[in-house]
Amino acid sequence: MTEDILRITGGRPLHGEITVQGAKNSALPLMAAALLCDGETVLHRVPQLLDVYAASRILNRLGCRCTAEGNTVTIRHTNAESSEIPDADMRTMRSSIMFLGPILGRMRCCTLTMPGGCELGPRPIDLHLDAMRQMGVQIRDDGGKIVCRADLLHGARIHLPLPSVGVTENVIMAAVGAAGETVLTNAAREPEITDLAAFLNQCGAKIEGAGESTVVIEGGRKLTGTEYSVMPDRIAAMTYLCAGAAAGGSVCVSGAAPQDLESCLNVLKAAGCRIGTGSGRIFLDRTGGLRNVRYIRTMPYPGFPTDAQALISAVLCTANGTSVIDETIFDSRYKHVGALLRMGADIRTIGRTAVITGVSRLHGASVEATDLRGGAAMAIAALQAEGESEIRQLHHLDRGYEHFAEIFHSLGGSVQRCRFSAKEREKQSPCA
Ligand code: EPU
Repeated sequence: MTEDILRITGGRPLHGEITVQGAKNSALPLMAAALLCDGETVLHRVPQLLDVYAASRILNRLGCRCTAEGNTVTIRHTNAESSEIPDADMRTMRSSIMFLGPILGRMRCCTLTMPGGCELGPRPIDLHLDAMRQMGVQIRDDGGKIVCRADLLHGARIHLPLPSVGVTENVIMAAVGAAGETVLTNAAREPEITDLAAFLNQCGAKIEGAGESTVVIEGGRKLTGTEYSVMPDRIAAMTYLCAGAAAGGSVCVSGAAPQDLESCLNVLKAAGCRIGTGSGRIFLDRTGGLRNVRYIRTMPYPGFPTDAQALISAVLCTANGTSVIDETIFDSRYKHVGALLRMGADIRTIGRTAVITGVSRLHGASVEATDLRGGAAMAIAALQAEGESEIRQLHHLDRGYEHFAEIFHSLGGSVQRCRFSAKEREKQSPCA
């Protein structure tokens, strides 16, 4: 048995330019959407991540042929098609639920189980199922399996009680394969939804209003695979900017979409960073001390993203003054706080609110990633801490970040990914 550990020595400012990966949260629905297309779909800029490998496995199980070469994924339809996703695949990630809409859109039936993913509090799928019901899908529970079938999958007027990203994506994908028009109101407006609609429209769909609250989908058009490049990952971009903010220095993130990060960049500015943007590039410069940000509230897009909440809390640990964060999207998204406390942070959480009182410095500690963004927050804290930190449970980070250690290393951070055997671990041997 081996274990990977991230070893970070803090206190070195970061300098340089990196290119941000393609967006995980766009690549996964795009791969699922390829199920709706005949022929071949070629996706470029797909990040090499555990969740992407899981999505490829699901596509292959469903009867597609999904192959990857570097960051290009090719998905071909074959004749053998299945409509069931095995429980083991469902559990690997939350995005396995993204296959529900396209499988129904194509085959009119789908059997799956509850999806897995980061533990951020309860993550029900009731809204996904309700929306599908409104499109004519009958759903029954068969000993833990969710069996969905539609004699006639039809368009509908669907109003979401909250603007869920995943439900918006599933409705769009099912509606593309349904008969008639679907009008979705109170839809999520995240850029990943615009990316999904752009891809499907390029395949022959007719989707209007993606990125706005009302999306209109004309169903029943024939879709043919296309070649498409996944949008930049705005949360990965924010991660590297937050690292620059925490460690100090000047960082340029290229291949990014600054317009998708406005709320994040405003918070970084309020924290004392100088920010510049130019075609596909974001520059961050932090030479003076960090300032507190009085109040941050996570909100659906275009508000401050919940996925950046842990990242910014790690930055604000050493800001001058007190910052307050309200997490409004998920019930339990402060699991990373325990690790930040071990590093010397002063954070109190009360329900969905975190009060961060800046301390003069953090110190290195040995911690375990609790979830994807929580693990990234620990790395950000470690980069500004005095001394050495170790982060374990790296599978969380591998679900969402490509070349995580290498990127920080290229910016001048002392970050090494080490692989230990159980025996070496006992002896605390150094990194290879
Ligand atoms: N919700 C329900 N019922 C449902 C679906 C959602 O109550 O059937 C609730 C959720 O529990 C949550 C809220 O609605 O309280 C919003 O969840 P949403 O459906 O928007 O989230 P998601 O689609 O499951 C995506 C991202 C998450 C990101 C959220 C919010 C992907 C693959 N995941 O999840 O990304 O936090 O939107 O922006 O796109 C991450 O990348 O680290 C990550 C967790």
